[in-house]
Amino acid sequence: KRLILIGPPGSGKGTQSPIIKEEYCLCHLATGDMLRAAVAAKTPLGVKAKEAMEKGELVSDDLVVGIIDEAIKRPSCQKGFILDGFPRTVVQAEKLDDMLAKQGTKIDKVLNFAIDDAILEERITGRWIHPSTGRTYHSKFAPPKVPGLDDVTSEPLIQRKDDTAAVLKSRLEAFHKQTEPVIAYYSKKGAVVNLQAEKPPKEVTTEVQKALL
Ligand code: AP5
Ligand code: ZN
Repeated sequence: KRLILIGPPGSGKGTQSPIIKEEYCLCHLATGDMLRAAVAAKTPLGVKAKEAMEKGELVSDDLVVGIIDEAIKRPSCQKGFILDGFPRTVVQAEKLDDMLAKQGTKIDKVLNFAIDDAILEERITGRWIHPSTGRTYHSKFAPPKVPGLDDVTSEPLIQRKDDTAAVLKSRLEAFHKQTEPVIAYYSKKGAVVNLQAEKPPKEVTTEVQKALL
């Protein structure tokens, strides 16, 4: 399966991805995670992406298209993949479709994590992450056993730099202006399934499973 998860910040893409990945043996390609790793490692890509990410703006199409072009060619991704956070502009979607056409494949489904903006601030400001695995918690909705520590490794959890109410506003603006048109783009192709992402995590998982039957 070749899937796209699309939805605003905090809609649950990163929470559902590991579950889908395990169930269908897909590779999980999250451009946000890859960019954060590049920023932390101070690679040329990270240096170029840092400023836009901190402001909650999108990084340039060329940078992310380059990352995905390399990733979908990996042998481990030939059985299928989950794109989490890509494509985020119509230009990215068109370039992705071209890359897949060259491989003789296409996107099977686009899961649209539909959710009201009003719910997202609480989700974003309460999020805690285990940096080396990406495991995600929430202080209220999915608390770790010991506050501030990962359940599996007992290592410290961190908060993302862009997870503030102020930066969330720019991220939401970017979503509505630049990413919502991508949903319309794939709707025309009949590939979009709408999920009710405001439901509890397990119920969203059930919706995802139904969408992929
Ligand atoms: P990215 O990392 O993709 O961030 P995002 O799209 O803003 O999405 P999030 O990771 O914030 O949300 P999520 O849907 O994964 O939520 P989660 O499951 O963790 O991008 C970051 C930046 O990188 C961008 O701003 C941009 O600068 C750059 N970038 C990345 N890709 C790009 C691209 N293609 N083009 C250009 N620039 C790009 O859930 C959130 C919280 O809620 C967690 O605490 C979780 O525990 C909790 N939660 C999850 N589901 C539920 C539920 N059902 N009920 C209650 N709580 C829940
Ligand atoms: Zn995420």
